[in-house]
Amino acid sequence: MKSVIAGSGIGVPRNVVPNDKLARIMDTSDEWIRTRSGVVERRYADPGQGSAELGMMAAEAALAAAGRAPADIDAIIFATMTPNFYFPGNGPVVQAKMGFPESMPTFDIRQQCSGFLYGFELADTLIQSGKYKRLLLIGADAHTPLLPWQKGWATTIGLEDREVTPEEYEFNTKIRDRAVLFGDGAGAMVIEGSENGARGFVASKLFTDGSNIEALYMRGGSQRRPWVTPENVESGDLIPDMSGREVFKQAVSRMPEAVRAVCGAADAKVDDIDVLIIHQANLRIVEGVAKQLGLPMEKVPHNIERYGNTTAGTLPILYHECVADGRIKPGMLVCFTALGSGLHWGAALYRT
Ligand code: ACO
Repeated sequence: MKSVIAGSGIGVPRNVVPNDKLARIMDTSDEWIRTRSGVVERRYADPGQGSAELGMMAAEAALAAAGRAPADIDAIIFATMTPNFYFPGNGPVVQAKMGFPESMPTFDIRQQCSGFLYGFELADTLIQSGKYKRLLLIGADAHTPLLPWQKGWATTIGLEDREVTPEEYEFNTKIRDRAVLFGDGAGAMVIEGSENGARGFVASKLFTDGSNIEALYMRGGSQRRPWVTPENVESGDLIPDMSGREVFKQAVSRMPEAVRAVCGAADAKVDDIDVLIIHQANLRIVEGVAKQLGLPMEKVPHNIERYGNTTAGTLPILYHECVADGRIKPGMLVCFTALGSGLHWGAALYRT
């Protein structure tokens, strides 16, 4: 039996935020952001719209594409690093709000940018166990609440119209290396067992290196007493920390290694890959990985220019768009790869 993607969908917020809107509140420019990262615009969620709400938009679309109702699903797997609540995770939120069966189990997983990849492995393993027939896998992140919203960020989605103060401008500039990269968004897939042997998950390889947590992490949590104070918020202590160059270096070496490893495990060649669905963190990373693998850019689609990095949302959003516009066709070998905070990374092969 193989695990197959029966349908996919996306959920992106309505607010389009072009680079110029960020240049109004910090020392950056459209030119810098485009050339260093490839991002042209991203989407920001409305207040009140969290990762669970984005995930539900994607889930509805995925269920419709698969021709399924909530009652047909045996469990939800929700991957996010920005859940609606510190606890519980988004699984129970989606279960209750979308009318899934009352006592249906839900799994909440993290793994940040690699969340969807880990979700694939979990979904496939649960289906192979024979205990679950059909799962809903959601990857969603809403990064805007991690931004210092009180320092003029409401102007980016038209909720305020004012110039920021010099102090706010200086504060925002301190986080410009991270702030310009991220956007909000979600993708979802219905994954089910199928006896049609030609299609489905072929192999996956997952990795973690916990010795490098500080390359990309967010402070605050259960070591603290209390876990958050007004001073933490004011000083920007709760804004994610990132060593951009270190993550970049890891990304361009680890993802090619993972792609080669998963091809080796499946007895396939890298050249056999028809489409590489790679995590969208920086266009230069995407191009660097393609080059290392010797894959032409026609096989390596990207949408970072429109969404930025949507963390757990990137893989399913890109996959869905490629299926919708015909870049992914039946019979193709698709390779998914990602690297992110943890560090977690890996690759998975899927025959459409
Ligand atoms: N606008 C203008 N200038 C900027 C900006 C900005 N937004 N950000 C940084 N700069 C400046 C820096 O201050 C620095 O100035 P200096 O030379 O005067 O000190 C200069 O630009 C160069 O900075 P670098 O950090 O060397 O720039 P780099 O080319 O490395 O690009 C970037 C930075 C875009 C962050 C890159 O390193 C990157 O993409 N890294 C990987 C990020 C990533 O993959 N993150 C994964 C997230 S996934 C997850 O798990 C959540």
